[in-house]
Amino acid sequence: LARGAAGTDLRGRHVVVSAGGTREPLDPVRFLGNRSSGKQGYALARTAAARGARVTLVAANAALPDPAGVDVVPVGTAVELREAVLRAAADADAVVMAAAVADFRPAVYAAGKIKKKDGQEPEPVALVRNPDVLAEISGDRARAGQVIVGFAAETDDVLANGRAKLKRKGCDLLVVNEVGERKTFGSEENEAVVLGADGSETPVAHGPKEALADTVWDLVAERLG
Ligand code: CTP
Ligand code: CA
Repeated sequence: LARGAAGTDLRGRHVVVSAGGTREPLDPVRFLGNRSSGKQGYALARTAAARGARVTLVAANAALPDPAGVDVVPVGTAVELREAVLRAAADADAVVMAAAVADFRPAVYAAGKIKKKDGQEPEPVALVRNPDVLAEISGDRARAGQVIVGFAAETDDVLANGRAKLKRKGCDLLVVNEVGERKTFGSEENEAVVLGADGSETPVAHGPKEALADTVWDLVAERLG
């Protein structure tokens, strides 16, 4: 396989990677967030750059250093991430959605800090749906032949859930992780199966996030032809 060692199989390509986890503000000091570290997305950005790609990294709240030679676009919320991904995807050969995008956001943003009221229980927090960026860019491709990759963490029947999600999203590849006790957020390693819309299944043994990233780029490069 034309691996990273060659350093050239993505030369002349523009790839977009989203990474980290969105934060959905409730008031100026509080948000709904998730535990995504951003490490897998940053590994994807680094390995794509090493293989010669021009890389745009849409980074949601990841406390990680900017990878060298990568164009980093910082975002906070799912709505901001959508705007940045759509803008960068317009001329991209591939888009990899490694970010953990919040499914919901608070229906109301309080401009002032929410305060306790004496003797009163708190109001419930009403939520509304966020846009599904992966489904949107997959259903309405910015360029013919653009390769789109999603990520999914699943439990129970991991492969069946992954297959159903791949179909629902309409992307070309879905990297499916099994989540469980051993597999914690923020770890340096990952283990996955990459499902293809063409029916392919590529298992990736437990190992560094760079190794999974290189397998994803191998599969993307094959599809770019
Ligand atoms: N994703 C997205 N926009 C969202 C939610 C998810 O683009 N609003 C992307 C993620 O970046 C990821 C993929 O969709 O690449 C799968 O995310 P996941 O949360 O597993 O999918 P959901 O459709 O939200 O399914 P679930 O109800 O299982 O959370
Ligand atoms: Ca979700």
